[in-house]
Amino acid sequence: MRRIPARMPSRAYDVLVGRDCLAGLGGALSRRCPGGKTVVCCDENVAPLYLEKVRSSLRAAGYEVSHIVIPAGEAQKNLARAEELYGVLYDRGVRRGDTAVALGGGVTGDLAGFVAATYQRGVRLAQVPTTLLAQVDAAVGGKVAVDFRAGKNYVGTFYQPWLVYSDLAALETLPERELHSGAAEVAKYGLLAGGELLDRVERLAAGSLTAARVSQELVTGCVQYKVAVVAGDEREETGARAVLNLGHTIGHAIEAATAFSRYTHGEAVGLGLRAVLWLSRRLCGLDPGEEVRAQAVLDGLGLPRRLEAVPAETVCALTRRDKKAGREGVGYVLLDAPGSPHLNVRVPPELEREVIEWLLQR
Ligand SMILES: NC(=O)c1ccc[n+]([C@@H]2O[C@H](COP(=O)([O-])OP(=O)(O)OC[C@H]3O[C@@H](n4cnc5c(N)ncnc54)[C@H](O)[C@@H]3O)[C@@H](O)[C@H]2O)c1
Ligand SMILES: [Zn+2]
Repeated sequence: MRRIPARMPSRAYDVLVGRDCLAGLGGALSRRCPGGKTVVCCDENVAPLYLEKVRSSLRAAGYEVSHIVIPAGEAQKNLARAEELYGVLYDRGVRRGDTAVALGGGVTGDLAGFVAATYQRGVRLAQVPTTLLAQVDAAVGGKVAVDFRAGKNYVGTFYQPWLVYSDLAALETLPERELHSGAAEVAKYGLLAGGELLDRVERLAAGSLTAARVSQELVTGCVQYKVAVVAGDEREETGARAVLNLGHTIGHAIEAATAFSRYTHGEAVGLGLRAVLWLSRRLCGLDPGEEVRAQAVLDGLGLPRRLEAVPAETVCALTRRDKKAGREGVGYVLLDAPGSPHLNVRVPPELEREVIEWLLQR
């Protein structure tokens, strides 16, 4: 197993990444959060696949174990579902020294994490991500939230887990589309880090994308990058954490413009990354050869090549509604080169529109 130490200002914890390691979860958790109760939260797709394994591993490590299964999907990430979880914790007599275990994708991690952060002002939390997106991104870094009205992640906080435990074997059962979606975040980290990580992502993109080809080194590389960024700006105060939004300004706008139904988050981010590469060549001097190389990586990962059926002006208007937009509009994260992100670049509205038109017409 690989261990990535995450030394955040508010808490130090380990991210463990292995393959076929779910049976070891109880042992790993009990070395960090000994004793007490655990409540496993997972969705209805993950429950039949992994819940029993997780429960028995926790029981074998001496925990009193209970669980709750929620329906799957982003629509569950809301205050009503959070209230139901509070009820479960209340009924089970959960106290601060007990542990909520979020087993599943980013939806489960964000929801159960938000509940753990707020119930009795915080119970312990273990993230056990089972999607590629959650293993490389959502489960690490301590952002937890639910959606509120039209606002995605509008009610939330920063709450670091006590442990992140990723089993790459869980990716074997992931629907193909979800695997490809997670690969968009992997591509994001490859472009941000450049060097060896980008080489690895490029090798992954060179063959057909299967769970078996997602290596521990690849996931570890993404996690290391995220951990280092978050450790320097845990609560998104200095602006350094904004680098993680690479591809997300236009990605989020595309998700919103298509009512969060046509594209998965990863597919929208994939399109956002394509736009970032296009803009980076024009505004930051990204080498044209590097742009071609990176677009080919996105092709190889099976991410959409073009944006469909959305008026460009809708997408442009929505980039300005971005939660992270400042008074003067959106500051983009672009790339001077792979491994060299450039924060807070002002993109003139005409160019923003041009890049969306390009996405629509290619
Ligand atoms: N907190 C953060 O920093 C952060 C970062 C990125 C994304 N997110 C959030 O993450 C969410 C998206 O996460 P996601 O893409 O993991 O979505 P998800 O949790 O909805 O999982 C995707 C689908 O895969 C299923 N699934 C999960 N693991 C499986 C497995 N091993 N085998 C078979 N099916 C499985 C789920 O039931 C679901 O249907 C969004 O709500 C987003 O806001 C949070
Ligand atoms: Zn993302």
